[in-house]
Amino acid sequence: MSTKVRIKPSDKITTLPKYAFAELDEWKEIERARGNDLIDLGIGNPDCPTPQPIVDAAIQSLQKPENHGYPCFKGKIEFRRAISKWMKDRYNVDIDPETEIQTLVGAKEGLANIAMAFTNPGDINIVPDPYYPVLSRGTWISSGEVHHVPLLKENNYLPDLKSIPEDVAQRAKIIFINYPNNPTAAVAPREFLEELVAYCKKYNILLCYDLAYGEVCFDGYRPLSIFSIEGAKDVAVEYHSFSKTFNMAGWRIGFVVGNAEYIQAIHDMKTNTDYGTCSIMQDAAIAALNVDYSYVQATMDNYARRRDFMVEGFRKLGWELDNTTATMYLWLKVPAGCDSKAWCKSVMEKTGVVFTPGKAFGDYSDGYFRASLVQPDEKLKEALIRLEKAGIRYN
Ligand SMILES: Cc1ncc(COP(=O)(O)O)c(C=O)c1O
Repeated sequence: MSTKVRIKPSDKITTLPKYAFAELDEWKEIERARGNDLIDLGIGNPDCPTPQPIVDAAIQSLQKPENHGYPCFKGKIEFRRAISKWMKDRYNVDIDPETEIQTLVGAKEGLANIAMAFTNPGDINIVPDPYYPVLSRGTWISSGEVHHVPLLKENNYLPDLKSIPEDVAQRAKIIFINYPNNPTAAVAPREFLEELVAYCKKYNILLCYDLAYGEVCFDGYRPLSIFSIEGAKDVAVEYHSFSKTFNMAGWRIGFVVGNAEYIQAIHDMKTNTDYGTCSIMQDAAIAALNVDYSYVQATMDNYARRRDFMVEGFRKLGWELDNTTATMYLWLKVPAGCDSKAWCKSVMEKTGVVFTPGKAFGDYSDGYFRASLVQPDEKLKEALIRLEKAGIRYN
């Protein structure tokens, strides 16, 4: 006779709010099962293929038996050298391939691991709201507390560092900052980055700068690396991702660069739970860093064209919104008095058009929703037609 033994998951998992994109997936599944033909502008998953030279490099690498064993924890030295050269070429910053780079299984993993590497139960980390979920979740998983700072339109979606209470600043261990920003599409001027580095020095806070959208920019705008700011390496690490730049979201590869001691701690944390990034992905990533830039430019031109089209379309439907210069997102207000989750769900049910509710990015962001520009032009056109037909407008 077998006895059913039921082991409850830990409090960490059971008390974490449900991961918003997992919930969105459930909604989508229900709608698809009802026969609703969805146009998914919800998740930020690039719709274009990875450039062919990168795919070819991966195929070649797969044929080499030396890539079939465990990879080196830090990442191959050839990969780290390619990263260092790319950081110099693209951002004009010096990164030591020996001590200042850790390769990652995507930036997301590294953002969770830095929180776990530095946060003791009860520690405070600072995260602006709205935020990419893992920026807070890594701290919560480590039983730390998150102090959220609202990102407001009147401040160009930059956090007002002076509004952070003195006792929070004194106790804070890490501040997570992401520009170009998901979901608001805001960008950070040099003066803000200077203020941020000075703030982290003053309060001895680790600056975790998320530059996952560093190459997703248009109209001549180029984001800065945090290491363009003098002295940033004393306090900061910076995250990069292949997902959006090279349409490699499914390949799971990224890297973090910066302060050698902080990089070592992330490395130490990771050695406990993974074996580093698959060697084949690393060879593909080397090819990506050396690929003709016209491939990246074509992706960005695509997003810029879609942005023009959707900004104009939303304006015709009554929304007020500024033109963006980075990311593949538009951040829009839900009609007055609506709850973002309920509104997005009802839009999906009525039209099949999927948006992400602002609430997915934090409690301060409930008045908004995010539209991702990750569908071909015809689909975007159809999405606007469906919204118009269903009478969905901003007030
Ligand atoms: C702000 C931000 N940081 C990091 C990531 C994660 O990137 P990766 O795919 O390299 O894990 C994302 C993904 O959407 C993101 O939006």
